[in-house]
Amino acid sequence: MQRTIMLIIMSVMVLMGGCAESLRPSMQSKEDKRVEKLLAHMTLEEKVGEMTQLTLEVVSKRKDDRSVEINMEKLREAIVTHHVGSILNCGGSANTIDNWHEIITTIQDVATKETRLAIPVIYGIDSIHGANYIVDGTLFPQNFAIAATGNVDLVRRASEITAMETRAAGIPWNFNPVLGLARNPLWPRFYETYGEDPYLASIFGAAYVEVQQGEDMSDPARVAACMKHYLGYSVPRTGKDRTPAHIPDRILREYFLKPFAAAAKVGVATCMVNSSEINGLPVHASKYYLIDILRNELGFEGFVVSDWNDINNLWQREKVAANQREAVKISVMAGVDMSMVPYDYSFTNHLIDLVTAGEVPMSRIDEAVRRILKVKFALGLFDNPYPQADAKANLATAGATALNLQAARECITLLKNENNLLPLASDKKVLVTGPTADLISVMNGGWTITWQGDREDLYPAEKLTVLEAIQAKIGAGNVQYVPGPFDQASDLNAILEVARQADVAIVCLGEKTYCETPGNIDDLNLPDAQKNLVEAITRANVPLVAVLLEGRPRLLGSVAEQADAIVMGYLPGQEGGVAIADVLFGDVNPSGKLPFTYPKHTGDLTLYDRKNSENYQPQWPFGHGLSYTMFKYENLVLSNSKIGVEDALTISVDVTNTGTRSGKEIVQLYLQDMVRSVTPPVRQLKRFVKVDLNSGEKRIVTFTLTKDDLSFIGEDSLPAVEPGMFKVYIGDQEAEFELM
Ligand code: BGC
Repeated sequence: MQRTIMLIIMSVMVLMGGCAESLRPSMQSKEDKRVEKLLAHMTLEEKVGEMTQLTLEVVSKRKDDRSVEINMEKLREAIVTHHVGSILNCGGSANTIDNWHEIITTIQDVATKETRLAIPVIYGIDSIHGANYIVDGTLFPQNFAIAATGNVDLVRRASEITAMETRAAGIPWNFNPVLGLARNPLWPRFYETYGEDPYLASIFGAAYVEVQQGEDMSDPARVAACMKHYLGYSVPRTGKDRTPAHIPDRILREYFLKPFAAAAKVGVATCMVNSSEINGLPVHASKYYLIDILRNELGFEGFVVSDWNDINNLWQREKVAANQREAVKISVMAGVDMSMVPYDYSFTNHLIDLVTAGEVPMSRIDEAVRRILKVKFALGLFDNPYPQADAKANLATAGATALNLQAARECITLLKNENNLLPLASDKKVLVTGPTADLISVMNGGWTITWQGDREDLYPAEKLTVLEAIQAKIGAGNVQYVPGPFDQASDLNAILEVARQADVAIVCLGEKTYCETPGNIDDLNLPDAQKNLVEAITRANVPLVAVLLEGRPRLLGSVAEQADAIVMGYLPGQEGGVAIADVLFGDVNPSGKLPFTYPKHTGDLTLYDRKNSENYQPQWPFGHGLSYTMFKYENLVLSNSKIGVEDALTISVDVTNTGTRSGKEIVQLYLQDMVRSVTPPVRQLKRFVKVDLNSGEKRIVTFTLTKDDLSFIGEDSLPAVEPGMFKVYIGDQEAEFELM
C-alpha cells in the first residue's frame, strides 16, 4: 500500500518515561552529601560488604514454625567481620511480628553498635500478595487477580496495607512488584504478574510502587519497592521457569520494557534481575540490559540486586564464566550492585580480590555502594533502623480485612452463566466437591506463609474455605460435601449418587499450590481426574457450577461445555472463600474481567493483541467477564474525526445499567492502528475505568488519548507515530479517526 509515511521519532527518554527529574523526592539528592562523606571513610572490605546480601538462614536457626533464633556468632561474622549490608528472607516460614522485632533489633544492634561506621542493614523480603511472611499478615489476591478487578484504587490501597504491615515488622524493603507479562500460560509465575497486557501491567505496577514508597520512604508505614524480574523473565520459550527467552529488541520495547519504564518513572528504588537469559545473554551478565537500557534509557537511579544465587549461576548453569571469580567480575561490571549470594562470602572475597588486582575499578564499586547507601538514607535507616514497637497495631486491622474481602469480591470473574443459573437461591440443596473446595492454601498459592504456600496447617483457622463459606451462608444442613481429586482416580459412582440428591453441584477445580520452578508443568490441560469428576456429575442431570482456583489458565476441555456456569476465582487470597460464596449466592454481583487470554487448545496460545494474520479462538478472550446485570454502551463520540500528532483526542461513551440490579463494569477502550509500517495488532488496550451503576443508571465515561497512545516501536526499535486511520472500540461501539 502506498501512502506517505511520516515517521516521528520521539526521544526514547520521553516515551519510555524515565528521566532524573521525574524521580520522587525520596530518591533525590538531599542525602547525597551524607552518602559521599560516608563513602570517603569506607575501606574496600566495607564497600564490598555493602554489596553483599545473605539469607537469614546463614545467621539463624528455626526455633518453631513461627519464629527463628539469631545465632550471634554467625551474625557477627556476617556483619562485623564481612560488613554484610543486607539480609533477606524469613528462614523457612512466616514469623510472628514479635519475633520479627527481635530479629531486626538484634541485626541492627550489631550493625550500628558493633561496627566502625555503624551502617544499618537493609532487610529485604517477598511481601508478594501482602505481608505473607508475617504471621497474621493480610493476604490479598495474587497480582493477576488484582489486575482482574480493573480497580486501580484497590491496588493502591492493598499496596498501602502491604507496605504498612511489612514495615510494622521492621522490614523496609519489599521484593515486589513482578512486572513481567503473563504471555506464556505454562510459566509457573504467571499469577505473580498483572496479566498479559503491557498497559494494564504498567498502570497497576506503577500504582503499586508509588504507594509502597509514598512521598517519603522514611515514613514508618512505607517501604522501598523492587521491580522484578528485569527483563524478559516471564516468557521462557518452553514455559519452564528460569529457561531462555528469545525476544527481538523491537518486541522487547513494545511489550516487556513498558511496565519497568512506568515503575522507573515513578522512582522505584530497586530492581531485581531476571535469573535467565534473553537471546543468549544472561541478564545478570548484560551491560546492554542493565546499563544501556535500564540506566541510560529508563533513567533508573536506584540499585540493582541479583536474584537468588544468580551470579553463581553464570558459571554453574549458564556457562558464560569459567569460574566463580569470573562470574563475579562479569556481573558487577555488567551493572549488578548487590549480590543475593545468598549462603556464603564467596562473592565478597572474590570482589575484594578483583578490585585489588585492578580487574574491577574502585569507581564501579563506589557507584554501587553509593546507590545502596542512598536507598538506606532515603528509608531513614541511619536515623532509626529499628522496628517501631507501636507499629504492631498496624497488622491485620479490621480495615485491612475489609479491603481484602472487597478485593477478592471484585476479582472474581464470571466466565459462563448459561440460562442465568447463577446466582443460586439460598434454599437449594447443594453438593460441594472438587479438590479445591476445602483448602485455604489453594486460594492463596505460593508465597503464602511458606515459599510454596503448601503448609495448610499454618493457615489461620478462622479463614473460610469455599465449602465452609457456603455452609456458613446457606446452612450446613443444605450442603453435602464429597472430596474430589487433584490428579488421582476417584470413586465416581459414589459422587454420582450424592449428586442425584442435590439441586445443584458446585465443583471446585484447579491447582495445588506452587511457586517458581517446582510449579513447572508439561501439560497445560486440567488433569483428567478433575475432568472425569465433572463428567461423572453431569450424568446426574443437576445444574453444575465449576469454580476455578488456579494460578494459570489450565485448559478445561470438556468441562467448558459441561459446566452450566463457570466462576474464575484465580488465587483470591484469605477472603476468597467468603467472596466466592457471596458471588455464587448473589450477595455480590461479579465484576472482574480476565487480564489474560484463557486458551482453549494447547497448540493455540494466541494472545489478544494478535496480528491480522492470526486467528483468535480462545476459550475466553482477554477482558471477558459477565455480570448478573446488563450494561448497554451507546453514543461513542470522538472530539474530532481528524487530529494532528500533538492533539489530544477525547472519547466519550454512555454506559447504562439496563438490568435489575446494581453492578460494576470495567469500561475498556481498545485502539487499532489500521495501517502502519510494522504490522499492527488487531487491538490494544489503551484505557480502562471501573464504574459502579445502579439499575437504570447511566454514566458518560470520558477518556483522552495522546501521541504516546498512538505510537509504536518502529522497525529501527525507536518509537514512531504514523499518520492514517485508527479505530476505537468500547464495548460493542466503534469509531474511526484520522491522524493527519
Ligand atoms: C525469586 C525472587 C525472590 C527471591 C528472594 C528468588 O528465587 O526468583 O522473586 O525475590 O528468590 O526470595
